[in-house]
Amino acid sequence: MLETERLLLRPWRAGEAVVQRELWAERDPRVPPHRRIDADGHPTVAELEEAIRAGRPSSSGLLAIERKAAGDVIGYCGLIGRRPGSETEPELAFELLRRVWNRGYATEASMAVLDWARSCGYGRLRATVWEWNTASRRVLGKLGFTETGLKEVDPVHGATLFATKQL
Ligand SMILES: CC(C)(COP(=O)(O)OP(=O)(O)OC[C@H]1O[C@@H](n2cnc3c(N)ncnc32)[C@H](O)[C@@H]1OP(=O)(O)O)[C@@H](O)C(=O)NCCC(=O)NCCS
Repeated sequence: MLETERLLLRPWRAGEAVVQRELWAERDPRVPPHRRIDADGHPTVAELEEAIRAGRPSSSGLLAIERKAAGDVIGYCGLIGRRPGSETEPELAFELLRRVWNRGYATEASMAVLDWARSCGYGRLRATVWEWNTASRRVLGKLGFTETGLKEVDPVHGATLFATKQL
């Protein structure tokens, strides 16, 4: 568990699958289909709940962000691709419910994750971001990530940019 002035970062609880479903449902239409609710309504709350219970990486690798004052869960933040002995540095990821955007929560949560990564001995982190995602690029900038200049262009979904930060 990680703690900041306003937030707790901790594992997801099964009852919070409804928050994960809300995050899925709110995603920008430019996000690729495999990360959006499909025409049949999948993933459902029940499926997301099952994934939390089973501790599948998609839901458990990233920490739920709980607001200390309100006690509600507003999104997630954490590291993807942490593997013992892996050559590749892990990737920072975050996503918040739209109703709490622009209050500094993603930056505050990420700073706690960066401190934790540093204390675990990681020397560098990666991040990938859609070129059109101004808010996320701004958060990465505030955290001290540098865009590498590399760009992977997808004709449908836009370009992905790569950023890194030395810890
Ligand atoms: C990216 C995201 C997590 C940011 O969360 P947040 O809690 O609102 O972030 P913060 O409040 O810490 O910072 C947001 C910054 O972006 C800026 N911003 C937001 N929308 C913007 C826009 N359209 N144009 C320019 N700047 C924008 C804010 O002004 C703020 O910068 P500031 O502190 O200099 O004013 C949130 O927008 C989100 O969940 N987006 C969808 C998921 C996502 O994109 N995840 C990241 C994938 S790489």
